[in-house]
Amino acid sequence: MSAKATAIAPANIAFIKYWGARDLTRAIPNNPSISMTLERCFSRCTVEYLRDARVHEVLLAGSGGALLQPPIDFAKRILEHLDRLREATRATGAFRVATFNSFPSSAGLASSASGFAALTLAVAGALGLRLSDRELSELARESGSGSAARSALGGYVQWPAGDDEEHCYAVRIAAPEDWELRDVIAIVDDGPKPASSLVGHGRAETSPYYAVRQSLLPSRLARVRDAIARRCLADLGPVLEEEAIDLHLIAMSSRPPIFYWKPGTLAVLQAVRELRAEGFAAYATIDAGANVHVICDPKSEATIARRLDALIEVRAVVRDRVGQGPRLVDEHLF
Ligand code: PMV
Repeated sequence: MSAKATAIAPANIAFIKYWGARDLTRAIPNNPSISMTLERCFSRCTVEYLRDARVHEVLLAGSGGALLQPPIDFAKRILEHLDRLREATRATGAFRVATFNSFPSSAGLASSASGFAALTLAVAGALGLRLSDRELSELARESGSGSAARSALGGYVQWPAGDDEEHCYAVRIAAPEDWELRDVIAIVDDGPKPASSLVGHGRAETSPYYAVRQSLLPSRLARVRDAIARRCLADLGPVLEEEAIDLHLIAMSSRPPIFYWKPGTLAVLQAVRELRAEGFAAYATIDAGANVHVICDPKSEATIARRLDALIEVRAVVRDRVGQGPRLVDEHLF
């Protein structure tokens, strides 16, 4: 007997970053983070539960629909998570999985966040289980991708909700309808990043500036929460830029250092400053990669996208927005 389910889960962009962990394997972070869930950057994952099988199968869906063998490292993390989910759900069979990303993978655009949230929801769907937001968030986090805990919910999300290591899940702090922010993503490099975020988390505490950032975080967290509650981009923007710079300052001063930026990263940061000088509310943030997310309001979005697209360093621009979070859908990948 078999049962199939397909889930879509969006990526997210962190306003306050997760960087450094108390327990890296289970993604128990050193600090709370806050993100906005996206809409157009998503993973779609189809899972078939094969009750009589013992060995999982993982495939990668190309944009034309072809199913391909995935790179070994990618498949390994998925297989480990499938074993974890099989144990957590007391299932005895195996899973056949195909996954598709609507955007470049491993380029610092949170493909592991959307990928593991979609995988977790699709496995539950194939087993006929209904997960609460909290259960989905905790189970997705157990993949080792902490940001996947935030992709379990739509809108504006904080993770973790409290200090309890055993129950480390995300909560929604505002709905997408509460504040219609846009994210213009300037892709300056669509290749894999030089070091995975897992490597970056592991090295974070070797930076002499790590403790300084930690000491600044409680006030930053409060400022971001407050700006979201008041829908004030002029207050949110400077904090999210400070956070992005500090994340990369920590990465660049870790031992050995990690440089995620490319020349195009600086070109976009410069353009964002010029746009601001002209009166556009545009603020930049960067996860563990070279690509820049420009957070803005709906009325500035088109101009910002056009200006960034015109830069020779920019390969593509994705116009994304705050979104609804994961869901089960009927269109399967196989
Ligand atoms: O969830 P991970 O292990 O891929 O780490 C995410 C790290 C950042 O994207 C840089 C920050 C964040 O909070 O999303």
